Amino acid sequence: MPASKPVEICFVCLGNICRSPLAEGVFQDLVNREGLESRILVHSAGTGNWHVGAPPDARMQATAQTHGIRLQSIARQFQPEDFKRYQLILPMDQSNLTTLKYMGSPRDMATKVKLFRSFDPGHNGDLDVPDPYYGGSAGFQQVFDIVQRTCPHLLEFIKREFLNSNEG
Ligand code: 4NP
Repeated sequence: MPASKPVEICFVCLGNICRSPLAEGVFQDLVNREGLESRILVHSAGTGNWHVGAPPDARMQATAQTHGIRLQSIARQFQPEDFKRYQLILPMDQSNLTTLKYMGSPRDMATKVKLFRSFDPGHNGDLDVPDPYYGGSAGFQQVFDIVQRTCPHLLEFIKREFLNSNEG
């Protein structure tokens, strides 16, 4: 049987140097642990272009590293064509979601775009991953905690929605 096409997902924040690179790194680590790296391709992008070409923020890298996660993304800006490439697009906050609305069709927005924290069982009604860029180190750890808690639930969703055909 031919291998099915992999599902491609993209985490989206503002600068693509803090929150979405962390989500990409943590989620990729989960995917690798489950041996799903050929079936789920993980990406990230920013709605802004200020940091295009840059590695993740050193403070985000340091926080990730203390939890054994290496961040390897290079910042890029989300493009309107990306709506075709990805099956699931995960803005990290509502402002990122609003920016995506200017690029995507209503149909793409309804079917492909879901706020990352909508998968967070501990969101308590707050669906934004807070932007840590102008704050202190506690903010980076808070982002890590949210991302680590949410990623397993996101993976379960992707398995259910995209990977479960032809599986026992
Ligand atoms: P991110 O954080 O969206 O999580 O990557 C930010 C990075 C840079 C800026 C804002 C937020 N900035 O204003 O340059």
